[in-house]
Amino acid sequence: MHKIIPFILVSFLLGCNTSTKNEQQLQDRIDKLDKKLADAYKPGFGEFMSSIQTHHTKLWFAGQAQNWKLCNFEVHEMMEAFGNILKYEQEREESQRISMINPALDSINAAILQKDPVRFRNNYVLLTNTCNSCHQAVQFEFNVVKIPDMQPFSNQEFQVRTK
Ligand code: HEC
Repeated sequence: MHKIIPFILVSFLLGCNTSTKNEQQLQDRIDKLDKKLADAYKPGFGEFMSSIQTHHTKLWFAGQAQNWKLCNFEVHEMMEAFGNILKYEQEREESQRISMINPALDSINAAILQKDPVRFRNNYVLLTNTCNSCHQAVQFEFNVVKIPDMQPFSNQEFQVRTK
């Protein structure tokens, strides 16, 4: 009996030893993954905004051409980009204000579905004003968005193609 007890004790200690070893290995893997995640590329707030700027521009020229399919596409690209800010830029305080753009996006979306050029124009102004309201609220008021006066994308057709 007195020989068995030390045996059990030693086995128990060995068991502990392997479990702490496993824990250490797991911790090492977690640390490695943490580092990988921290180093992984994710677009910054400004990059999302630059893509939103592009869609905002294209939306205007698509609307001028009454190309409602393209308008619909551009508006949804914008919605997606704002959604991605919420997803990927959670730590930025400004992200809490993103939802203020939703009513303006919904209104212009409705104008597009109705294929109504006058409502489109009015809601484009509302959308643009809302962009600027947010910029003012988050001290980026020097980024002023306006209705574009020149079509910068010479490699894209905005008119509806009639084959
Ligand atoms: C959360 C409120 C918010 C809303 C809504 C918003 N923005 Fe921004 N915008 C920002 C912030 C914050 C920045 C600065 C990002 C940074 O830190 O780089 C910015 C920057 C920009 C820039 C400058 C990007 C650059 O690198 O030159 C443009 C252009 C822009 N926004 C366009 C728009 C447009 C167009 C809309 C509306 C369709 C819009 N924004 C709506 C918060 C907002």
